[in-house]
Amino acid sequence: MPLVQRRRHGIEDEIGLQLAAPDDGWRRRPDMDPHATSGYRAAIVARARFIEDLVAEQAGRGVGQYVILGAGLDTFAQRRPEISSRLRVFEVDQPGPQAWKRQRLIELGFGVPEWLRLVPVDFEAGGDWWERLAAAGFDSGQPAVVVSTGVTMYLTKDANAATLRQIAGLAPPASTLAMTFLLPTELLDDADRPGLQAAERGARAAATPFISFYTPDEMLALAREVGFKDAQHVSGTVLAERYFAESSRGRGCPAPSHTTGHAGPHPAVCQAVW
Ligand SMILES: C[S@@+](CC[C@H](N)C(=O)[O-])C[C@H]1O[C@@H](n2cnc3c(N)ncnc32)[C@H](O)[C@@H]1O
Repeated sequence: MPLVQRRRHGIEDEIGLQLAAPDDGWRRRPDMDPHATSGYRAAIVARARFIEDLVAEQAGRGVGQYVILGAGLDTFAQRRPEISSRLRVFEVDQPGPQAWKRQRLIELGFGVPEWLRLVPVDFEAGGDWWERLAAAGFDSGQPAVVVSTGVTMYLTKDANAATLRQIAGLAPPASTLAMTFLLPTELLDDADRPGLQAAERGARAAATPFISFYTPDEMLALAREVGFKDAQHVSGTVLAERYFAESSRGRGCPAPSHTTGHAGPHPAVCQAVW
């Protein structure tokens, strides 16, 4: 038995903070309150870990393409080069934020390696983002993992449906899509509601309000309607048990005060069969 056991975290990401470089007072922001937002933040950690496990598993099976829709400050490419450099990683995001991220990656010395493709797209613009992906080197004959986390709430339901339809119609056989969505407020646990409301206020103040919410049944129905043959919902509770059960027994990473994760974005995993 080691004398000192290193604390294990659901996910460790210090590069995201370097990229964002927030003002000194960021910890005092209401949407960063460690208690009120613990459930919401736990859900974000769990979704990120879920996606990383999925990508590692798929890469282990020989899947060579990873598409991150609404990548934002995703740092998988920088944090997990042992996996990401064996893949072709496509980060899809709005042109402005993506240009800013490119600049930050260069300023911090990470650069943009050949296997990392930054693809500027606005999902609300109605254009054919799949063509842009192909122009950036996506091979529509090879399987891919496609993920979209923390994005559906910012888009109209029409734009979300169009994005899903495009993926279902065009993604190569044996590909997997994992995307998250927000539950309507009335389906949240009482304990989680204040955290989500703080996050909502933060999003509104940043002029990027949450506008789309889904029940799990609604999301699964949409996935099947647009053409996914097999769609599953992975609830926040399942994720909490998977990633935080150890800490809630007093070991490993510090437990959030409530780990149900209901407030957070819920992954719907659509194992697409074409
Ligand atoms: C909260 S961030 C999520 C980032 C990351 N996927 C994660 O899980 O943490 C939302 C991302 O969606 C992107 N986004 C929002 N509206 C978009 C649109 N109309 N077209 C493309 N990307 C959009 C934003 O630029 C941002 O990077």
